[in-house]
Amino acid sequence: MQEMAHVFGGKVAAGEAREYGHAMVSRIPANQAAGKELLGKLPDTTKMWMSHGDKLTAVPEGFVDVLSSDNSEHAAIANMAKKMYGLQFHPEVTHSPLGKVILEAFVVDICGAPTDWNMADIADEFIKEVRELVGPEGQVIGAVSGGVDSSVAAVLLQKAIGDRFHAVLVDNGLLRKNEAVEVVSRLKEKLGINLHCVDAKDRFLTLLDGCTDPESKRKIIGKTFIHVFQEEAERIGKVDFLLQGTLYPDVIESISYKGPSATIKSHHNVGGLPDTMHLKLIEPLRELFKDEVRSLGMALGMDEFSVWRHPFPGPGLAIRCLAPLSEENLSMAREADAIMIEELNRANVYRDIGQAFAVLLPVKSVGVMGDCRTYEKVCAIRCVQTTDYMTADWYHMPYEVLGRISNRIINEVRGINRVTYDISSKPPATIEWE
Ligand code: XMP
Repeated sequence: MQEMAHVFGGKVAAGEAREYGHAMVSRIPANQAAGKELLGKLPDTTKMWMSHGDKLTAVPEGFVDVLSSDNSEHAAIANMAKKMYGLQFHPEVTHSPLGKVILEAFVVDICGAPTDWNMADIADEFIKEVRELVGPEGQVIGAVSGGVDSSVAAVLLQKAIGDRFHAVLVDNGLLRKNEAVEVVSRLKEKLGINLHCVDAKDRFLTLLDGCTDPESKRKIIGKTFIHVFQEEAERIGKVDFLLQGTLYPDVIESISYKGPSATIKSHHNVGGLPDTMHLKLIEPLRELFKDEVRSLGMALGMDEFSVWRHPFPGPGLAIRCLAPLSEENLSMAREADAIMIEELNRANVYRDIGQAFAVLLPVKSVGVMGDCRTYEKVCAIRCVQTTDYMTADWYHMPYEVLGRISNRIINEVRGINRVTYDISSKPPATIEWE
């Protein structure tokens, strides 16, 4: 809106204060006709998300104000003759509940675009693009974790080039309960992906034994992963491309990470593999957001379970076990996690939650079981609601479900005698504890 105003002779000035957050915007009755095509399907007043420092101070010739907010009479402008519209707020974000109604009116009603875009066509296009890029002989290697992004990318590659795509699952001993077996069953047996599972549990766990520092854990895991992956590539022989399940938010974050912003956690391991591997990158999902990856997965024929899984971090249970790393401690974290996920599914709330997990704390507390005193570890459980994983709210879990999870963990996991629920949001906390 500001650029348009500037070009057509209006005025834009630096505001004294930034306007950031929710704002109620209202139709300006006198100019209703000018905004009708764009805003006709909205109520007279609606909530939109503002985020701007500069502001419009004079509307250009031929334009009129069609929406105002408490803060400004120029929340939206229109020029009916030129079919030009400007919005000061962000219709594209989830905090603008009816933002999509405006975007749809613009694209469909005003621009006359056909509404025949669908994921199945996009999937076909992606498959064609991958075939062209890789050529008739090219070989591609890619790591899969069982998570949504790498699984969808793997299915896409399988459909495009069949067994010339080599998927590698590294079992680092830090995966969820039965994860490696389940991933092989879903990706290899059901979806026909050329998948090799490397058992590197001992190698990782020997190097991590006793480790407590989060960044050291990530460094050891990252480095060891690269070694294992390189060995696997050598075993396959000639490989030309490396598949990465990079999504659009990773692209944005990796750009900002190159800038002055602080490294909060070194988990954005973009470009982690050494250049000496001479592999060309292939990133078919780099323009998609998570929800689009999920729709693509469904369009490619994947099952709902695979597509709707919560994300799981690369360093896995290592960063959910705050007690010194050992098989015993990891096993407690793994069992508690499995119970929790089972109960969330049973209560039918898994899909309401963005991420859920258990964290084994390095704290012991006194308890009583039967006639005996216990002195055992504390487990924290964490459930958050989020769409972009950049911000998150703690999930208001029904008490009965919380109760069942706590009971089962204390009764079934040896070594844990107390469960707490984490009610911190992000920011200021992060989603993971480490
Ligand atoms: P935080 O804890 O930064 O997490 O709020 C945001 C999202 O990133 C995931 N996460 C990781 N993923 N390697 C990963 O692949 C990591 O080291 C890592 N640390 C956090 C976290 O699970 C959440 O989805």
